[in-house]
Amino acid sequence: MLTAPELRALKGQRPSVWITAYDVVQAQVAEEAKVDVILVGDSLGMTTMGYDSTIPVTLNDMIHHATMVRRGAPHTMMIVDFPFLTYPDVPTALRNAGRIMQETLANGVKLEGGHEIIDVVDALIREKIPVIGHLGLTPQSIHTMGGYKVQAKTSASIERLIRDAKELSDHGVSAIVLEGIPDRVAAFVTQHIEAPTIGIGAGSQVDGQVLVFHDCLGLSPTLPKFARPFAHIRDAMIQGLQNYRHAVMEKSFPSDNETYHIPDSEWNKFLE
Ligand code: KIV
Ligand code: NA
Repeated sequence: MLTAPELRALKGQRPSVWITAYDVVQAQVAEEAKVDVILVGDSLGMTTMGYDSTIPVTLNDMIHHATMVRRGAPHTMMIVDFPFLTYPDVPTALRNAGRIMQETLANGVKLEGGHEIIDVVDALIREKIPVIGHLGLTPQSIHTMGGYKVQAKTSASIERLIRDAKELSDHGVSAIVLEGIPDRVAAFVTQHIEAPTIGIGAGSQVDGQVLVFHDCLGLSPTLPKFARPFAHIRDAMIQGLQNYRHAVMEKSFPSDNETYHIPDSEWNKFLE
Protein backbone atom coordinates (compact mmCIF):
# COMPACT_ATOMS: atom_id res chain seq x y z
CA MET A 1 0.00 0.00 0.00
CA LEU A 2 1.20 3.49 -0.91
CA THR A 3 1.90 5.66 2.16
CA ALA A 4 1.51 9.43 2.51
CA PRO A 5 5.28 10.11 2.32
CA GLU A 6 5.56 7.84 -0.72
CA LEU A 7 2.67 9.66 -2.36
CA ARG A 8 4.43 13.00 -1.92
CA ALA A 9 7.72 11.49 -3.14
CA LEU A 10 6.08 10.32 -6.37
CA LYS A 11 6.07 13.91 -7.60
CA GLY A 12 8.40 14.16 -10.57
CA GLN A 13 8.75 10.35 -10.68
CA ARG A 14 5.49 9.15 -12.17
CA PRO A 15 1.83 10.22 -12.21
CA SER A 16 -0.41 8.86 -9.47
CA VAL A 17 -3.76 7.34 -10.38
CA TRP A 18 -6.78 8.02 -8.20
CA ILE A 19 -10.37 6.83 -8.46
CA THR A 20 -13.37 7.33 -6.23
CA ALA A 21 -15.31 4.39 -4.79
CA TYR A 22 -18.34 4.12 -2.55
CA ASP A 23 -18.93 0.41 -1.92
CA VAL A 24 -17.29 -3.00 -1.68
CA VAL A 25 -17.47 -4.04 -5.33
CA GLN A 26 -16.11 -0.72 -6.57
CA ALA A 27 -13.29 -0.94 -4.02
CA GLN A 28 -12.47 -4.51 -5.03
CA VAL A 29 -12.18 -3.66 -8.71
CA ALA A 30 -10.15 -0.52 -7.94
CA GLU A 31 -7.72 -2.57 -5.88
CA GLU A 32 -7.54 -5.32 -8.48
CA ALA A 33 -6.82 -2.70 -11.18
CA LYS A 34 -3.95 -1.42 -8.98
CA VAL A 35 -4.97 2.23 -8.71
CA ASP A 36 -2.71 4.15 -6.31
CA VAL A 37 -5.36 5.85 -4.19
CA ILE A 38 -9.07 5.29 -3.60
CA LEU A 39 -10.95 8.45 -2.66
CA VAL A 40 -14.24 8.01 -0.84
CA GLY A 41 -15.53 11.32 -2.15
CA ASP A 42 -18.58 13.18 -0.97
CA SER A 43 -19.59 12.87 -4.65
CA LEU A 44 -21.22 9.90 -2.91
CA GLY A 45 -24.22 12.24 -2.67
CA MET A 46 -24.63 12.39 -6.43
CA THR A 47 -23.26 9.06 -7.66
CA THR A 48 -24.91 6.85 -5.08
CA MET A 49 -27.48 8.71 -2.98
CA GLY A 50 -29.41 10.53 -5.72
CA TYR A 51 -28.86 14.09 -4.45
CA ASP A 52 -28.01 16.85 -6.90
CA SER A 53 -25.14 18.24 -4.84
CA THR A 54 -22.71 17.16 -2.11
CA ILE A 55 -24.33 19.43 0.49
CA PRO A 56 -26.75 16.84 1.99
CA VAL A 57 -24.02 14.24 2.61
CA THR A 58 -23.39 13.67 6.33
CA LEU A 59 -20.37 12.44 8.25
CA ASN A 60 -22.28 9.25 9.03
CA ASP A 61 -22.96 8.71 5.30
CA MET A 62 -19.23 9.06 4.60
CA ILE A 63 -18.27 6.69 7.40
CA HIS A 64 -20.92 4.14 6.38
CA HIS A 65 -19.58 4.00 2.81
CA ALA A 66 -15.89 4.28 3.69
CA THR A 67 -16.14 1.21 5.93
CA MET A 68 -17.51 -0.70 2.93
CA VAL A 69 -14.67 0.55 0.72
CA ARG A 70 -12.06 -0.41 3.32
CA ARG A 71 -13.44 -3.97 3.48
CA GLY A 72 -13.28 -4.20 -0.32
CA ALA A 73 -9.81 -2.69 -0.65
CA PRO A 74 -7.78 -3.49 2.47
CA HIS A 75 -4.45 -2.97 0.68
CA THR A 76 -5.00 0.35 -1.14
CA MET A 77 -4.44 3.85 0.23
CA MET A 78 -7.91 5.20 1.12
CA ILE A 79 -8.65 8.91 1.54
CA VAL A 80 -12.01 10.02 2.92
CA ASP A 81 -13.66 13.39 2.24
CA PHE A 82 -14.78 15.57 5.10
CA PRO A 83 -18.36 16.41 4.02
CA PHE A 84 -20.08 19.80 4.20
CA LEU A 85 -19.74 21.69 7.51
CA THR A 86 -17.80 19.00 9.36
CA TYR A 87 -14.58 21.08 9.74
CA PRO A 88 -15.79 24.58 10.72
CA ASP A 89 -13.26 24.88 13.59
CA VAL A 90 -10.32 22.93 14.97
CA PRO A 91 -12.08 21.01 17.79
CA THR A 92 -14.94 19.90 15.53
CA ALA A 93 -12.55 18.92 12.74
CA LEU A 94 -10.38 16.90 15.12
CA ARG A 95 -13.38 15.09 16.62
CA ASN A 96 -14.68 14.25 13.14
CA ALA A 97 -11.24 13.26 11.85
CA GLY A 98 -10.98 10.89 14.80
CA ARG A 99 -14.22 9.23 13.78
CA ILE A 100 -13.11 8.92 10.14
CA MET A 101 -9.66 7.54 10.97
CA GLN A 102 -10.80 5.14 13.71
CA GLU A 103 -14.12 3.92 12.33
CA THR A 104 -13.14 3.57 8.66
CA LEU A 105 -9.39 2.88 8.97
CA ALA A 106 -8.74 5.57 6.36
CA ASN A 107 -5.16 6.52 5.51
CA GLY A 108 -5.97 10.22 5.37
CA VAL A 109 -8.64 12.85 4.87
CA LYS A 110 -9.45 15.46 2.22
CA LEU A 111 -11.03 18.84 2.79
CA GLU A 112 -11.98 21.75 0.53
CA GLY A 113 -10.34 25.13 0.90
CA GLY A 114 -7.08 27.04 1.28
CA HIS A 115 -5.98 29.85 3.59
CA GLU A 116 -9.35 29.96 5.38
CA ILE A 117 -8.95 26.39 6.68
CA ILE A 118 -5.21 26.41 7.36
CA ASP A 119 -5.70 26.17 11.16
CA VAL A 120 -7.66 22.96 10.65
CA VAL A 121 -5.00 21.60 8.27
CA ASP A 122 -2.27 22.38 10.84
CA ALA A 123 -4.20 20.69 13.66
CA LEU A 124 -4.83 17.52 11.63
CA ILE A 125 -1.19 17.28 10.55
CA ARG A 126 -0.10 17.89 14.17
CA GLU A 127 -2.19 14.84 15.08
CA LYS A 128 -0.36 12.82 12.39
CA ILE A 129 -3.32 12.62 10.04
CA PRO A 130 -2.34 12.84 6.34
CA VAL A 131 -4.27 15.69 4.72
CA ILE A 132 -5.20 16.14 1.07
CA GLY A 133 -6.20 19.64 -0.06
CA HIS A 134 -8.85 20.49 -2.67
CA LEU A 135 -8.83 23.81 -4.56
CA GLY A 136 -10.48 25.33 -7.62
CA LEU A 137 -14.02 24.13 -8.20
CA THR A 138 -14.97 23.06 -4.70
CA PRO A 139 -18.46 21.54 -4.85
CA GLN A 140 -19.28 22.28 -1.18
CA SER A 141 -19.21 25.98 -2.20
CA ILE A 142 -21.87 25.51 -4.90
CA HIS A 143 -24.16 28.16 -3.45
CA THR A 144 -21.50 30.87 -3.17
CA MET A 145 -19.84 29.90 -6.49
CA GLY A 146 -23.28 30.17 -8.14
CA GLY A 147 -23.12 26.73 -9.76
CA TYR A 148 -20.46 24.33 -10.98
CA LYS A 149 -18.23 26.70 -12.92
CA VAL A 150 -14.61 26.57 -13.98
CA GLN A 151 -12.59 28.57 -11.43
CA ALA A 152 -9.35 30.61 -11.57
CA LYS A 153 -10.15 32.31 -14.86
CA THR A 154 -9.19 35.85 -13.81
CA SER A 155 -5.80 37.11 -12.69
CA ALA A 156 -7.02 37.87 -9.14
CA SER A 157 -8.52 34.41 -8.69
CA ILE A 158 -5.47 32.74 -10.25
CA GLU A 159 -3.26 34.58 -7.75
CA ARG A 160 -5.45 33.48 -4.85
CA LEU A 161 -5.42 29.85 -6.00
CA ILE A 162 -1.62 29.85 -6.29
CA ARG A 163 -1.29 31.42 -2.84
CA ASP A 164 -3.65 28.82 -1.35
CA ALA A 165 -1.83 25.93 -3.04
CA LYS A 166 1.57 27.17 -1.81
CA GLU A 167 0.27 27.62 1.72
CA LEU A 168 -1.26 24.12 1.83
CA SER A 169 1.90 22.62 0.39
CA ASP A 170 4.19 24.52 2.79
CA HIS A 171 2.04 23.37 5.72
CA GLY A 172 2.59 19.74 4.75
CA VAL A 173 -0.43 18.38 2.87
CA SER A 174 0.28 15.09 1.11
CA ALA A 175 -1.33 16.21 -2.17
CA ILE A 176 -3.75 18.79 -3.52
CA VAL A 177 -6.72 18.01 -5.75
CA LEU A 178 -7.14 20.72 -8.40
CA GLU A 179 -10.67 20.62 -9.80
CA GLY A 180 -12.19 22.56 -12.68
CA ILE A 181 -9.43 25.05 -13.51
CA PRO A 182 -7.67 26.04 -16.77
CA ASP A 183 -4.77 23.79 -17.78
CA ARG A 184 -2.07 26.48 -17.65
CA VAL A 185 -3.09 27.49 -14.12
CA ALA A 186 -2.87 23.86 -12.98
CA ALA A 187 0.50 23.46 -14.72
CA PHE A 188 1.84 26.61 -13.06
CA VAL A 189 0.70 25.50 -9.60
CA THR A 190 2.21 22.06 -10.21
CA GLN A 191 5.59 23.58 -11.08
CA HIS A 192 5.64 25.94 -8.11
CA ILE A 193 4.69 23.75 -5.15
CA GLU A 194 6.27 20.70 -3.52
CA ALA A 195 3.06 18.76 -2.94
CA PRO A 196 1.79 16.65 -5.85
CA THR A 197 -1.23 18.05 -7.67
CA ILE A 198 -4.05 15.68 -8.58
CA GLY A 199 -6.18 17.00 -11.40
CA ILE A 200 -9.82 16.56 -12.30
CA GLY A 201 -10.78 18.89 -15.10
CA ALA A 202 -7.36 20.53 -14.73
CA GLY A 203 -5.55 19.34 -17.85
CA SER A 204 -2.67 16.92 -18.22
CA GLN A 205 0.24 18.92 -16.72
CA VAL A 206 -0.36 17.83 -13.13
CA ASP A 207 1.13 15.11 -10.92
CA GLY A 208 -1.82 12.72 -11.07
CA GLN A 209 -5.43 12.36 -12.12
CA VAL A 210 -8.60 11.51 -10.23
CA LEU A 211 -11.95 10.53 -11.74
CA VAL A 212 -15.30 9.68 -10.27
CA PHE A 213 -15.78 5.90 -10.59
CA HIS A 214 -19.10 6.26 -12.41
CA ASP A 215 -17.66 8.74 -14.94
CA CYS A 216 -14.53 6.65 -15.54
CA LEU A 217 -16.46 3.48 -16.37
CA GLY A 218 -19.49 4.88 -18.17
CA LEU A 219 -21.98 4.29 -15.34
CA SER A 220 -23.12 7.92 -15.17
CA PRO A 221 -26.07 8.87 -17.38
CA THR A 222 -24.27 12.08 -18.44
CA LEU A 223 -20.61 13.07 -18.45
CA PRO A 224 -18.81 16.35 -17.75
CA LYS A 225 -16.49 17.66 -20.49
CA PHE A 226 -13.34 16.59 -18.64
CA ALA A 227 -14.32 12.96 -18.11
CA ARG A 228 -13.60 10.07 -20.45
CA PRO A 229 -15.56 6.82 -20.18
CA PHE A 230 -12.92 4.07 -20.27
CA ALA A 231 -15.68 1.45 -20.38
CA HIS A 232 -19.45 1.47 -20.98
CA ILE A 233 -20.78 -0.29 -17.92
CA ARG A 234 -24.22 1.33 -17.84
CA ASP A 235 -24.96 0.11 -21.39
CA ALA A 236 -23.59 -3.34 -20.52
CA MET A 237 -25.84 -3.52 -17.44
CA ILE A 238 -28.96 -2.49 -19.35
CA GLN A 239 -28.15 -4.96 -22.13
CA GLY A 240 -27.61 -7.72 -19.57
CA LEU A 241 -30.95 -7.12 -17.87
CA GLN A 242 -32.73 -7.03 -21.25
CA ASN A 243 -31.12 -10.36 -22.13
CA TYR A 244 -32.36 -11.75 -18.79
CA ARG A 245 -35.88 -10.40 -19.37
CA HIS A 246 -36.09 -11.94 -22.83
CA ALA A 247 -34.76 -15.30 -21.61
CA VAL A 248 -37.37 -15.44 -18.83
CA MET A 249 -40.19 -14.46 -21.21
CA GLU A 250 -39.27 -17.17 -23.73
CA LYS A 251 -38.51 -19.71 -20.94
CA SER A 252 -34.99 -20.37 -22.19
CA PHE A 253 -33.78 -19.50 -18.68
CA PRO A 254 -33.04 -21.50 -16.60
CA SER A 255 -31.71 -24.28 -18.81
CA ASP A 256 -31.40 -27.89 -17.72
CA ASN A 257 -27.88 -27.50 -16.39
CA GLU A 258 -28.91 -24.41 -14.42
CA THR A 259 -31.47 -26.60 -12.62
CA TYR A 260 -31.37 -28.98 -9.62
CA HIS A 261 -32.49 -32.60 -10.17
CA ILE A 262 -33.31 -35.73 -8.17
CA PRO A 263 -33.25 -39.27 -9.59
CA ASP A 264 -36.48 -40.76 -10.98
CA SER A 265 -36.38 -43.43 -8.26
CA GLU A 266 -36.69 -40.86 -5.45
CA TRP A 267 -39.41 -38.97 -7.27
CA ASN A 268 -41.39 -42.15 -7.89
CA LYS A 269 -41.18 -43.02 -4.17
CA PHE A 270 -42.69 -39.64 -3.38
CA LEU A 271 -45.48 -40.12 -5.93
CA GLU A 272 -46.47 -43.52 -4.43
O1 KIV B 1 -16.01 13.91 -4.03
C1 KIV B 1 -15.23 13.64 -4.97
O2 KIV B 1 -15.41 12.68 -5.73
C2 KIV B 1 -14.05 14.49 -5.14
C3 KIV B 1 -13.23 14.28 -6.37
C4 KIV B 1 -14.00 14.73 -7.57
C5 KIV B 1 -11.92 14.94 -6.28
O3 KIV B 1 -13.80 15.33 -4.31
NA1 NA C 1 -15.42 15.71 -2.77
